[in-house]
Amino acid sequence: MTAKIISGNEVAAEIRKELTARVAELKNKGIVPGLGVVLVGEDPASVSYVTSKAKGCQEIGMFEETVRLPADVPEEDVLKTIDRMNNDPKISGILVQLPLPKNISVEKVIGFISPEKDVDGFHPVNLGKLLRGEPCPLPCTPHGVKQLLVRSGNDPAGKHVVICGRSNIVGKPLSAILMQKEAGANAVVTVVHTGASDIKHYTLQADILVAAMGVPEFITADMVREGTVVIDVGVNRIPDATKKKGFRLAGDVEYGPVAEKASFITPVPGGVGPMTVTMLLYNTVEAAIRLNEA
Ligand code: GUN
Repeated sequence: MTAKIISGNEVAAEIRKELTARVAELKNKGIVPGLGVVLVGEDPASVSYVTSKAKGCQEIGMFEETVRLPADVPEEDVLKTIDRMNNDPKISGILVQLPLPKNISVEKVIGFISPEKDVDGFHPVNLGKLLRGEPCPLPCTPHGVKQLLVRSGNDPAGKHVVICGRSNIVGKPLSAILMQKEAGANAVVTVVHTGASDIKHYTLQADILVAAMGVPEFITADMVREGTVVIDVGVNRIPDATKKKGFRLAGDVEYGPVAEKASFITPVPGGVGPMTVTMLLYNTVEAAIRLNEA
């Protein structure tokens, strides 16, 4: 079997078209959704993500403000920036790019964002709602994975989804999203992590396999059953002197051999990546509507 490619670029373009129309409608009612982004330091991957977030906002007609702070900024100044954005009516959603430098507490910073403006869905109040199955902003990358599955005709309902990786950003929230008794979810979910003595034992039982452990090309063909749907969340920069940028991108899946066995697969780049920014735009539009109703 050779896998069909699930194009994140195509699905993202479809959703962004829907969002562009919604933003235009909101503007007619005098509502302009706005995203506030806070970037601390100059980590190249983070700079690249933040740039694509700003571009995404502009493309669909949203307001956007990015605040760039030096890596050695005191924690208090980050909190002050968030406080200002919490109280700024032009800002409907706030995102603090992660990871943060070691001297700044992620818990403190995330907890300081108003839950109504938390478009990452990382605030403890929103994560609690997510686990309980209450309405809340869904964390962007897991939400993107759900959309890729549903919109490619791979509804997770009743399927065994095996998630490799238990990060706060992807693995944990994705397991909470897909286990809910809701449309586009209702899956049987297994989360595999470094505590497992035999990861392959679990991956071979997957109908849908999500690789989100951040280890380049960890999932090899012998770990995948024929016909599995494979979603690769990994974005790893591998040094490569033959490339203009000095690196190439690799996912957490050994793409070529696994694509020979999978029924569907996402590429890297062009798979999950474009969906993350798109679902951030979606969450910001939804936040703008809710704030206007409040
Ligand atoms: N860093 C990597 N992914 C994310 C994300 O989804 N949100 C934030 N804030 N930072 C990230």
